[in-house]
Amino acid sequence: MKTVFITGASSGIGKAAALYFHSKGWNVAATMRNPVKEKELKGLENVKVLKLDVTDPSSIENAIDNAVAAFGRIDVLINNAGYGVTGPFEATTPTQLRDQFEVNVFGVMNVTKAILPYFRAQESGMIINISSLGGRVSVPLYSLYFSTKFAIEGFTETLRYEVRPFNITVKLIEPGATRTDFAGRSQVVADASLAPDYKPYIEKVKAKTRKAADRNNSSVDVVAKTIFKAATDGKQKLRYPCAGGAKTVLILRRILGYRLFTFLVRKIME
Ligand SMILES: NC(=O)c1ccc[n+]([C@@H]2O[C@H](COP(=O)([O-])OP(=O)(O)OC[C@H]3O[C@@H](n4cnc5c(N)ncnc54)[C@H](OP(=O)(O)O)[C@@H]3O)[C@@H](O)[C@H]2O)c1
Repeated sequence: MKTVFITGASSGIGKAAALYFHSKGWNVAATMRNPVKEKELKGLENVKVLKLDVTDPSSIENAIDNAVAAFGRIDVLINNAGYGVTGPFEATTPTQLRDQFEVNVFGVMNVTKAILPYFRAQESGMIINISSLGGRVSVPLYSLYFSTKFAIEGFTETLRYEVRPFNITVKLIEPGATRTDFAGRSQVVADASLAPDYKPYIEKVKAKTRKAADRNNSSVDVVAKTIFKAATDGKQKLRYPCAGGAKTVLILRRILGYRLFTFLVRKIME
């Protein structure tokens, strides 16, 4: 029986992945910051709910040790925990900037660093990083969030070379807009009053972004299934775009080239 270890399994994509892998007969180490609040996953056989904050190295070590003690091994790590700061860059604060990278980039690196010795010792393992369509293309007002996902793309591509000799695979999931708590409690909106000159631009872009996201957003199950496919297809494929029209957008980006594509983004978003 295989074991998956998931960060940010309290809601959205992380929880959907936990439930999907469980339904496919896997052991699941569902990690989250506040396990006390969790109800749904706790009653399930072969699911262990563990405390983990990606910014706290000792919580990561403990969760990995507990998962290995419970299930004997970990086969797949899903680096899913993350949130987004939105708004014009000038309105964001240094703390928002640091915290954004602390969770979305350094958090992924912290967990990855902690699991690699286990994977090397067992001579196999897979790391699946939840990036975003925003790790490949950009839209206005997402400079902080998207730059963390661009960083994850570069990190994953590079790490892949280094760990391949140890039979460790690294993959990327690139979801487009997906219906989760992301646009609600997992979104930190920069205080527009810190950069009042941007107000008209923010209003114009926000309304259009919302329209585009509402038109295209997908169910979380699409992403959970794609993660499972990446974990089990036996391929050395790196990128799995999915949900919210991500595949179509990436095809358009390739066909149109950078200049035409950004022209199109401006037409739609501005
Ligand atoms: N929804 C989308 O449209 C979309 C599109 C592309 C990519 N993604 C990516 O998908 C991932 C999951 O997001 P989601 O859409 O499923 O949103 P979500 O439902 O809000 O889930 C975010 C998860 O991250 C956890 N988290 C935040 N900070 C954490 C920390 N310091 N340590 C551990 N866990 C932490 C949250 O835990 P708490 O419950 O403790 O807050 C929550 O479980 C993120 O990496 C996001 O960037 C989402």
